[in-house]
Amino acid sequence: MKRPDRTAAPTLLPGQTEYEFGVPIPGLILPAESWAKTAIRRLPETGPIDWSTVFGRSAHLCLDIGCGNGRFTLASAVERPEWNHVAIDSLPAVIRYATRRANQRGLSHTRFIAIDGWRLLHDYSSDQSWDEIHIYHPQPYADPRKASLRMLNPEFLLLMHQKLRDGGKIFVQTDRKAYWDYIQSTMSKVFDWQRVDGHWIDGPQFRSRREILAMKQGLTIFRGAAQRRCDWNDEELATCIAELPQPRFKVH
Ligand SMILES: C[S@@+](CC[C@H](N)C(=O)[O-])C[C@H]1O[C@@H](n2cnc3c(N)ncnc32)[C@H](O)[C@@H]1O
Repeated sequence: MKRPDRTAAPTLLPGQTEYEFGVPIPGLILPAESWAKTAIRRLPETGPIDWSTVFGRSAHLCLDIGCGNGRFTLASAVERPEWNHVAIDSLPAVIRYATRRANQRGLSHTRFIAIDGWRLLHDYSSDQSWDEIHIYHPQPYADPRKASLRMLNPEFLLLMHQKLRDGGKIFVQTDRKAYWDYIQSTMSKVFDWQRVDGHWIDGPQFRSRREILAMKQGLTIFRGAAQRRCDWNDEELATCIAELPQPRFKVH
């Protein structure tokens, strides 16, 4: 028998609020004639993507990498209609649910893509184009044989530095202490880094599905924000990146 899929978007009536583990998913369901089309199913063969053409307007750009069911991007898009939002995940199934939720809420300033984070940044993003990058609960890959799949490695930090605009920010959180220790020790060398104690002061209390689950399990959530430094020269930055360790810690 197939296990029920708890990430699936249920059928809701216009005006209804949708809940996940008792926590509202931001935005109201609109009548079908007001739904948006937020999926990007086919990418051009070569990048970069011109997001002002995609959205039909120039605006600040927010990227959610590993967005899962899209809770953060839905909340941010509801709160910041003046921003353009892009959310990606390597798993097509979760992108389908996130897309459906954004469509039903008429969030035409969001786009969802099933793509790997490295590919989106490396192949489809212009240098210094993103204002914010959000990474909530990056996949920890507890199996040591899969440690090389951990997304936040030195090369990925360099890529984010290249693709963030000057002063652009990265927001990251995890409930895995070992990943957190690695994130703090590496991010603080590349970016202006600030650990955030307690909840984020801006925006929704629960940023993501994993955060809700982790809090229900009584796990500590570690949060931090990084800002792009404009004082690096290419050579110094390359040396710094080369000296950082790979993410080869044990996750429990
Ligand atoms: C632990 S889940 C967290 C999902 C969501 N951010 C949350 O907090 O609920 C990690 C997500 O990252 C995705 N993921 C893992 N590696 C990725 C990569 N290299 N690029 C994009 N998404 C990735 C997984 O498919 C998964 O949906």
